[in-house]
Amino acid sequence: MIKNENILIRLPNISDLEDIVSINRISLPENYSVAHFVELINSWQDTSCVALLDNKVVGYILMRIVGPGFFTLNKSQKSKGHIISVAVLPDARRKGIGIKMMKFVMEKAKNIALVNEITLEVRESNYEARNLYKKLNFIDEKVLKQYYSDGENAILMKLNL
Ligand SMILES: CC(C)(COP(=O)(O)OP(=O)(O)OC[C@H]1O[C@@H](n2cnc3c(N)ncnc32)[C@H](O)[C@@H]1OP(=O)(O)O)[C@@H](O)C(=O)NCCC(=O)NCCS
Repeated sequence: MIKNENILIRLPNISDLEDIVSINRISLPENYSVAHFVELINSWQDTSCVALLDNKVVGYILMRIVGPGFFTLNKSQKSKGHIISVAVLPDARRKGIGIKMMKFVMEKAKNIALVNEITLEVRESNYEARNLYKKLNFIDEKVLKQYYSDGENAILMKLNL
């Protein structure tokens, strides 16, 4: 758990579902079904987070882990983290919440799932988010042509932990 001033970052649980779905709908064109969010929260609770500002949930990150290390006892095999969705409510932006949540899940990935690489896709035009990831040393790995349903390219970004 990270707590400073009025911002708290913690693991999500199913009681955060309504807030997560609402933040997603407000912030992003990529909207999953409620059932899919339930599945994501239940499956990836240990490597995801929510952010609270003044005790209200204002942001979330959902990160899944792929690779053998997470599912087997062979801890020598490294896994990869894949960030599925990141959002902060408009009124809560530019307060450092995005950075704090990213650092929280990066730490969880490293310590819980022995992840040595995190990837994510971001819209080519989304400079706010691309700046956030660059600040955390993610690099542009490649362009994924017409990745989104409206035809926009994605940038696949990668961080070696
Ligand atoms: C991207 C997003 C999560 C950032 O959250 P945030 O809490 O505002 O981020 P932070 O306050 O921690 O900002 C961290 C850095 O990101 C970059 N950044 C964030 N917002 C920015 C903006 N409007 N313009 C330029 N850079 C921006 C800056 O480098 C910033 O550091 P700085 O404030 O020291 O300049 C938020 O804007 C958001 O939810 N956007 C809509 C959903 C989205 O695009 N999700 C990502 C999909 S891949």
